[in-house]
Amino acid sequence: MTGQLETAPSIRRLSPPSNVGAELAADTRQGLIGTPKQLSSKYFYDARGSELFEDITRLPEYYLTRAEAEILTLYADEMMDAIKPVELVELGSGYSVKTRLLLEALRRAGTGTLYVPFDISEAAIRDAAETLSGHYPWLTIEGLVGDFPSDLPKIPHSGRRLVTFLGSTIGNFRSQERVEFYRSVGAVLEPADGLLVGLDLVKDVETLLAAYNDSAGVTAEFNKNILHVLNRELGANFPVDEFEYVVKWVAASECVAMGLRATRAMDVTVADLDLTIHLAKGEEIHDEVSCKFRYDVVVAEASAAGLSVGGWWTDTEDRFAVALLQPKPVSRQRPWKLHRPRQ
Ligand code: SAH
Ligand code: TRP
Repeated sequence: MTGQLETAPSIRRLSPPSNVGAELAADTRQGLIGTPKQLSSKYFYDARGSELFEDITRLPEYYLTRAEAEILTLYADEMMDAIKPVELVELGSGYSVKTRLLLEALRRAGTGTLYVPFDISEAAIRDAAETLSGHYPWLTIEGLVGDFPSDLPKIPHSGRRLVTFLGSTIGNFRSQERVEFYRSVGAVLEPADGLLVGLDLVKDVETLLAAYNDSAGVTAEFNKNILHVLNRELGANFPVDEFEYVVKWVAASECVAMGLRATRAMDVTVADLDLTIHLAKGEEIHDEVSCKFRYDVVVAEASAAGLSVGGWWTDTEDRFAVALLQPKPVSRQRPWKLHRPRQ
C-alpha cells in the first residue's frame, strides 16, 4: 500500500476553479459584445473537447501529429543531448501521447526522472498521469492544472529544464501573443535550459485547409463544442445545430482561421452573464486560428523575446518542425550593430 502511495502521480491545481470560471465569464462577455464576435479557444478543452482533439490527431487529413511524432522518433535523443535535462515540463500536454517518445529518450539519456505535465484540462492531466505512471515506473510525475502563461512562474524549478510546447499549439496564438508567450517561458528558463516548440510549416493551402476540415466532421464538432461549454457553464442557449463550421486561409498572417456561422438570424441569451446578443443570418463567431510558420519568422519572434534558435528538426516531408529555443547569452541580447566598430 505504502509503495503505491509513493509512486502515485501528484496532481496540483495552480488556479482555483473559481478563477477559471470568472475568466470564462469575462472572456465570453467581451468576445460576444465585440465585432466580430470571438470566443477563446482555450475553453474548447473540457473532457469532451480533449477527447475530440484526440480523435482529430488520428484523422487521415490531420498530418500534424504524425509528422511531429516522426521528428521525435528520429531526433529525441539529439534533443536530450542538447539540454541534458533533469526535468521535462510540458505545456498544453493533453494526453501526453507523443511525449512518450521524449520520455523514452530522457530515460536513455539518464539525465533526469521528473516529468511535469501542465494543462488547463484536469481530465487530460489525470488520464495522462495515470497512464504514464503505469508505463514508466522510474518516472516521477507532478501534474499541474493551470493556465499559461500566467501560471508558469508557479512551476518549481528543480534543475536543468527542458520545456516542451508541442502540437503547434503556438500556432493558436497570433504573432504578438507568440512573442509574449516566448517571453513568459524565457522568464522561467535558466541559461542552460531550453524550450522545444512544435511548429506546423507553411505549405499548399489545399493540404492546410483539409487538415482543419476533415470529411468525417470531427473538427467541426470540436469547434462547436465551445457552444456546448457555454450552454453548460454559463447557462447560454446557443442552438448548436444551427451553426455551421467555417474555415479559411488568411494569406496576410499565414493562418488558418476557424469559426461558426449562424445559419439563421437569432437571439442568444447567456443567463449567467445577464446578456442577450443578436446574430444576423450568416454572421460568424471567430473561435480559433492555427498559424503556420517559416524558419525566418520563428527566428524573428524568438529573438524579439530574447531567445535564439539553437536547433531545428523537420520531418522527412518538411511539413512540420520542432525548434529548440534557448535564452540568448547576455552579450548577444543587444542588437549587434551597437557593437560594430566604426569603419
Ligand atoms: N500537446 C498535445 C495536445 C495539444 S492540444 C499534442 O500535441 O497533441 C492543446 C492543449 O493545450 C490542450 O490539451 C489544451 O487543454 C491545452 N491548453 C490550451 N490552452 C491552454 C491554456 N491557456 N493553459 C493551459 N493549457 C492550455
Ligand atoms: N494546435 C493544433 C493545431 O493548430 C491543434 C488545434 C488547436 C486544432 N485547435 C484546433 C486542430 C482546432 C483542429 C481544430 O492544429
